[in-house]
Amino acid sequence: MAAVLELIAGSYEQITFGYRVQTAENEWTAKADFTHHAHTASISAVAASERFVVTGSKDETIQLYDMKKRTDHGALLHHDGTITCLEFYGNSHLLSGGEDGLLCVWSTKKWECLKTIRAHKGHVTSLSVHPSGKLALSVGTDKTLRTWNLINGRSAFIKNIKQNAHIVRWSPDGDRYVVVVNDKVDIYKLETASITGTITNPKRISSVKFLNNSVLAVAGDDETVRFCDVGNAKWVCEFRAHETRVKAVDSLILDDFCLLVTASNDGYIKMWKIHLKEELESPILLGEVNTTARLTCLSVWRLSSLQQISDDPSNATTSEELAQELDKKKKRVRETTEEVIVEDESKPKKKKKKDGGKKTVKK
Ligand SMILES: *[C@@H]1O[C@H](CO)[C@@H](O)[C@H](O)[C@H]1NC(C)=O
Ligand SMILES: *[C@@H]1O[C@H](CO)[C@@H](O)[C@H](O)[C@H]1NC(C)=O
Ligand SMILES: *[C@@H]1O[C@H](CO)[C@@H](O)[C@H](O)[C@H]1NC(C)=O
Repeated sequence: MAAVLELIAGSYEQITFGYRVQTAENEWTAKADFTHHAHTASISAVAASERFVVTGSKDETIQLYDMKKRTDHGALLHHDGTITCLEFYGNSHLLSGGEDGLLCVWSTKKWECLKTIRAHKGHVTSLSVHPSGKLALSVGTDKTLRTWNLINGRSAFIKNIKQNAHIVRWSPDGDRYVVVVNDKVDIYKLETASITGTITNPKRISSVKFLNNSVLAVAGDDETVRFCDVGNAKWVCEFRAHETRVKAVDSLILDDFCLLVTASNDGYIKMWKIHLKEELESPILLGEVNTTARLTCLSVWRLSSLQQISDDPSNATTSEELAQELDKKKKRVRETTEEVIVEDESKPKKKKKKDGGKKTVKK
């Protein structure tokens, strides 16, 4: 297997844990690799690119951890409120959302905030970037689902969904998306922006992850993880994953199977093997680790051994369309700030624009 994997989990205890996965036939182990204690309150979100692990917290900061140098890489101080969601787009951009209602787009080159969008009245609860990088969806406590054109930073579409959703997620091919309200998953088609199906979990949903374009893994306030066929809006498999409620799920496709990782309040992170064949079988437990912490969020970090990370971070980024578009935009931002930032200008700006909200805490 040509992949190096690490399980990254955030906890109520303010600590981020990294476990290096060692793979062998059907018995995998997760060995403690690093801990990062940079937050002063519980961790609410985590995301990983090839180079960085980022965590968001109730302490209102985003902390950066450099996976290459294995060091603290400073903090992003820009939000006024709990960081609720973090998502990388490729290795070049990070999106963050918070209880301050802001959605921010960051360049990972110098960790500048390229854009600050006043996205929701109330909290931003979840965001998801379309695989093309051109659109993002967000949900918030103003009972709306919003579509953002990331090329110009403007609102493209606002849908009143009558309830406060707490999760939104694109399918890997970007043809569908799901919106989660409490225990209910609404499945939407991109083409029509309409609901094609709804499925209800027995308990409030804490985390969802598309395993492929048609199967969604759903975890909630119980021990069971369920798989939903989003084409038919039907449950197709369920299994008892933990002793107590499952807080987070993540997955990735390896050579010939899907690796599902689950994290629970019971302190365990577990790795499961799933063959995504026609007949979905119950997952096989590959390995587990007792972190002894109350886990809140999870991300699987992956480094392809063939793909060395460049020393120069500007080399590591790709020439993806979004990167170019945003760079162009960034230059323009300096000249005409108002044009690209969807903000309520009546409110005084608390943060200085110049430093892009960046503060590097070198240790
Ligand atoms: C996803 O996995 C399911 C279950 O194994 C399989 O039946 C389905 O064909 C897969 N879907 C796609 C789009 O690959
Ligand atoms: C996990 O570790 C903690 C702390 O060492 C321990 O108290 C707990 O019993 C362990 N869980 C299990 C199921 O062994
Ligand atoms: C990094 O960039 C330099 C020039 O900026 C280039 O010569 C070099 O080939 C690049 N390295 C990689 C690995 O892309």
